[in-house]
Amino acid sequence: MKGIILAGGAGSRLYPLTLVASKQLQLVYDKPMVYYPLTTLIEGGIRDICLISTPQDLPRFQQLLGDGSRFGVKFDYRQQAKPEGLAQAFKIADTFIGTDPVTLILGDSIFNAGDILSQVLTGFNTGATIFGYHVNDPERYGVVEFDADGRAVSIEEKPKAPKSNYAVPGIYIFDNEVVNFAKMITPSARGELEITDVILEYLRRGSLHVHRLARGVAWLDAGTSSSLHDASAYVQTIEKRAGIKIGCPEEAAFQQGFISLPRLEEIVRLMPNCEYRDYLEQKVVAEAKRVQP
Ligand code: DAU
Repeated sequence: MKGIILAGGAGSRLYPLTLVASKQLQLVYDKPMVYYPLTTLIEGGIRDICLISTPQDLPRFQQLLGDGSRFGVKFDYRQQAKPEGLAQAFKIADTFIGTDPVTLILGDSIFNAGDILSQVLTGFNTGATIFGYHVNDPERYGVVEFDADGRAVSIEEKPKAPKSNYAVPGIYIFDNEVVNFAKMITPSARGELEITDVILEYLRRGSLHVHRLARGVAWLDAGTSSSLHDASAYVQTIEKRAGIKIGCPEEAAFQQGFISLPRLEEIVRLMPNCEYRDYLEQKVVAEAKRVQP
């Protein structure tokens, strides 16, 4: 399974901050936004990751994340010259994907979902798997409608009259057909290659699975100043209460066995004195040594 983090776009809703750094590099409580989707991919066992962003922002992501060895993964950085739609990611990453299945995650998608995403990811076989998440304002999203048996019957992008409250969150798992489907579809009225059109192709062929996320799962998209603030407040509340971080890729990489304990200790030693380092040193490393001295 390959992974794509889509971290481009105009970022106009967070202007003027986006004049100097892309949306997905903004701080969500105590770490850059992109750390959260990166952690989700690592927790799903994905090691080959293509990060797509604008020509201006790509060097900043490279500076932040490097070649991926700090997280036991390998990054392939690719440019999206213009924000021409989520589905364009599969055309840009065509040669990166090769013949593998691929998970796309949006760079502003923050999940706190326990083990459920990683279970679905590791159990994936063929077709497409997307998720349904109950929201208050479905008209802002792709919306999935279910029949009486719980099967998905329609998906609509930002409908004026939504047929359900289930939004499609920004993580999508596809088999290799997705590359062909992305090449087949044409731009929508808003001039974008819509992910919804790709998903509809799977629905038509009867190979779409929609996993409804349970109550208690958190999915936040941090696309506006207000939702960015909400996301920060949420992460702060959970982290303070539990003493465990959300969206810490070094910790996830260690738990996945992508990096060894000595390697994690070396990475921590290279960090400046800060709360992030204290967490890794005093919680993650210390706990691992306590369990396996
Ligand atoms: O957040 C989930 C929703 O994401 C889904 O429910 C919708 O079906 C899907 O179309 C998408 O909705 P939006 O159109 O509101 O997404 P937005 O334009 O905000 O882009 C999502 C992220 O992807 C954002 O961080 C910017 C980035 N992006 C977007 C486009 C269009 C790119 O990197 N390149 C692009 O071309």
